[in-house]
Amino acid sequence: MADEDPQPDGGQQASQEGTQHRSRRFEVLDDRPVNQDGLVEEWPDVGFVAMGSPDDPDPSITVEDGTIVEMDGTDREDFDFVDRFIADYAINPEVAEEAVAIDSVEFAHMLADINVPREEIRRLATGMTPAKLTEVVNQMNTVEMMMALQKVRTRKNPGNQCHVTSVKDHPAQLVADAAEAALRGFDEAETTVGITRIAPFNALSLLVGTQCGRGGTLTQCAVEEATELELGMRGITSYAETVSVYGTEDVFKDGDDTPWSKAFLASGYASRGVKMRFTSGSGSEVNMGQAEGKSMLYLETKCVLIAKGCGVQGLQNGSISTVAIPAAVPSGLRCILAENLIAGMVDLEMASGNDQTFTHSDTRRTAHMIPQMFAGTDFIFSGYSAVPNYDDMFAGSTFDSSDFDDYNLIQRDFKVDGGTKDVEEETVVKYRNRAVKALQAVFEELGFPPITDEEVEAATYADGSEDMPDRNQAQDIEAAQELMEREITGADVARILHERGFEEIAENILGILKSRVSGDYLQTSAILDEEFNVVSAVNNPNDYEGPGTGYRIDDDRWEEIKNYRHAIDPEDV
Ligand code: 5AD
Ligand code: CA
Repeated sequence: MADEDPQPDGGQQASQEGTQHRSRRFEVLDDRPVNQDGLVEEWPDVGFVAMGSPDDPDPSITVEDGTIVEMDGTDREDFDFVDRFIADYAINPEVAEEAVAIDSVEFAHMLADINVPREEIRRLATGMTPAKLTEVVNQMNTVEMMMALQKVRTRKNPGNQCHVTSVKDHPAQLVADAAEAALRGFDEAETTVGITRIAPFNALSLLVGTQCGRGGTLTQCAVEEATELELGMRGITSYAETVSVYGTEDVFKDGDDTPWSKAFLASGYASRGVKMRFTSGSGSEVNMGQAEGKSMLYLETKCVLIAKGCGVQGLQNGSISTVAIPAAVPSGLRCILAENLIAGMVDLEMASGNDQTFTHSDTRRTAHMIPQMFAGTDFIFSGYSAVPNYDDMFAGSTFDSSDFDDYNLIQRDFKVDGGTKDVEEETVVKYRNRAVKALQAVFEELGFPPITDEEVEAATYADGSEDMPDRNQAQDIEAAQELMEREITGADVARILHERGFEEIAENILGILKSRVSGDYLQTSAILDEEFNVVSAVNNPNDYEGPGTGYRIDDDRWEEIKNYRHAIDPEDV
């Protein structure tokens, strides 16, 4: 004990410093769920910084004869393929010098200023370099970004997207949950798989389910590229969004890809009438250990511009599957908001994230979605889990089916449109039941492993796969492969449903297929209303310029939002 500090006061000191026993207050705090979250300090050398790394370049641009010959301090000879692609395809050289010369604080003012129309923002932002766009949004606080986001969102009315997945890949559960999701108002529903080879079954379940009860919800099945493209071409799905892009050349190369190969894939979808958007998000480059010491936002801005350069109409960003990385560092959720904003500034439809769990705290997960929800984006969640999170095969979402009422009430509390509505229990039960029966008929007609009456009953009333009996998955996988081999299409499914007495579902599926042929829903931010009219940034552009303009909740929509099934009617009291 000779090397211990002498304690002339006999240990009193330790107590004064609080080291003798623990503060109850701190014990209570340390026990809170939020303290299970992983948080780290900034480490710019490896890119562990959300916004403003010391290594982020300063904005600059030189244009010669309509070609960008220098960008953000790098000469054209030294461009990597990401810079080369952005310089050649994403930045409008005609406005680039004007746009980069504008003072960044001044442009940030224009973004937050309700009197500057979105068109003027778009005109200049599409001439900006990655460093310039980043420098502009770095000037803005969260509320200013929300003001800007409400203006630059491409479609006038906000929307929402959901996940419909099952740990058991249970077709009866998926079809019922897809029907319920459509009734609750989601404009798009996406699925993925527990087991890869069952993908065609999950896609089929979503197609039939979403078109039962109300028509027009677009569907997607996120799987390996060849299968996903084929499902789209067959009319079993109607959009795709998980074509990933990254902000550094090394990460692209790791995936044997380039911006050009992604552009090629994108046109594969679009040429067959499949709506498509890309996916990116802050943190993916850090995740791969290839961030080159740049901030997450700077690299994500490059992703936004790659999407723009590829000519796709939209982007799913807002960190997405790497959300735990920005969420672990200071200003990380502000960075996510900033990347959504940049997507809108350059006129891309935005599906704004909020689609993966990143925290143990109910408070933090709610706070995460508020900026996108209150400002309104094209798809506030690019995957609200319409099933319990234990069934969410995208690793759980920020909000799940158990949060439906909370989410609806936040819309009601603030008179804000989050894209969903409350529905009556009887209605949900009725259409879940009808959807499973429809799929039962399709399976029977195609000679697939039967959906039993017991499964119909279970799926009608289920919350999640725990309420569902197990199926023989080997047989389902075999039948799912057969669905592909027999080249069954969305039109075949519609015909079967028509013949088996599910005319309205058949009619709705046909409605989706007709939109595919007309191609109008390939427009930026297109969704279909219940009459299969395309509602997009082209025929319903966001014209927000302050109070009294832009999207306003109309009387019918307000009735939907106000109507909460547990609200007491004064006449009943
Ligand atoms: N960057 C790029 N792609 C992403 N995805 C999810 N998060 C990101 C990101 N930050 C893609 C995944 C997967 C799908 C869910 O979206 O590659 O295919
Ligand atoms: Ca999604």
